[in-house]
Amino acid sequence: MLKPQNLREKYGNWAVVTGGSSGIGLALVRLLASQGVNVFIVALDDALLDEAQRGVSKQFPTVQIRPIGVNLGDKSENYMKQITEQTDEVDVSILVNNAGFLVMGFFNEESIDKYISSLHCNAMAAIRLTHHFYSLMITKKIKGCVMFTSSAAWFLPAPFASSYGASKALLSHFGNSLAIEAQQHGIDVTIFHPSYTHSNLYRETPKLDVVTFLSKFGWTPEQVAKRMFACAGRVIVHDMGFYAIATNLLGRFWDSAFLTTCIIPFRDSMAPKKTNSSQNKKTQ
Ligand SMILES: NC(=O)c1ccc[n+]([C@@H]2O[C@H](COP(=O)([O-])OP(=O)(O)OC[C@H]3O[C@@H](n4cnc5c(N)ncnc54)[C@H](OP(=O)(O)O)[C@@H]3O)[C@@H](O)[C@H]2O)c1
Repeated sequence: MLKPQNLREKYGNWAVVTGGSSGIGLALVRLLASQGVNVFIVALDDALLDEAQRGVSKQFPTVQIRPIGVNLGDKSENYMKQITEQTDEVDVSILVNNAGFLVMGFFNEESIDKYISSLHCNAMAAIRLTHHFYSLMITKKIKGCVMFTSSAAWFLPAPFASSYGASKALLSHFGNSLAIEAQQHGIDVTIFHPSYTHSNLYRETPKLDVVTFLSKFGWTPEQVAKRMFACAGRVIVHDMGFYAIATNLLGRFWDSAFLTTCIIPFRDSMAPKKTNSSQNKKTQ
């Protein structure tokens, strides 16, 4: 029911969108550009980033779209130097922590480095970037906005995606707490929990029946991006779609220990089919 709003008028003309090279992030970048907001796209340094930069720049020639190709899953946090250097000359008033990837399968069958890298990309990098830009917003007295693309995956136990669910729990809890602190500085924080969205997220993951089922009710990245921006500064936490709303409600009626016990009998039907485990390039 929230009407669209102009984020350039509300916050300013520079944004940083992580994971802006595809899916929800790319839709967010397009929406910002359509409102005249210049955007730094932070994503892996690959062909997708290049295409996104060229495509959005061509569509919105008066807006600056600057790519920053880094690996946010790098636990040595080398990405910060590049991001800081490239963004230092402008006032960033909109930060969207959206980058993420999903490692799915039997926990013991993927390398621990892959899990740690996903925790970094999905949660730790977001906290690091938020600390940097949020502190600058306060020092420069900028009316800003920090958004997190979290996920409904943490509302219930997430077997076969345990690190993903855990990373999103960290992100959402952090965002909720920050929202309270941020209010006194005039900075809006929004945490978003989309249900299944058609994107590249599942491209390299095993095909789970439950995911295939949810995909039938999937949203488009454009729908998600539109809703996220409608929420900015108006809603702190938003669950989008049936799955997010239903699983959040379940956790309000029953405690997590009970839900975990209930899920165990369904484990085999939820498990990935035995194939070669996916090779996710994002962790390299
Ligand atoms: N799709 C869903 O059903 C769904 C539901 C709930 C929440 N989400 C969340 O929504 C966010 C966006 O995902 P999406 O669905 O739009 O998937 P997507 O199309 O795969 O987009 C993910 C973005 O993150 C970037 N990225 C991945 N690993 C990275 C790394 N190590 N370093 C830097 N950038 C990296 C990707 O860059 P490359 O493409 O170059 O790898 C891409 O730009 C994620 O946080 C995801 O968890 C998605």
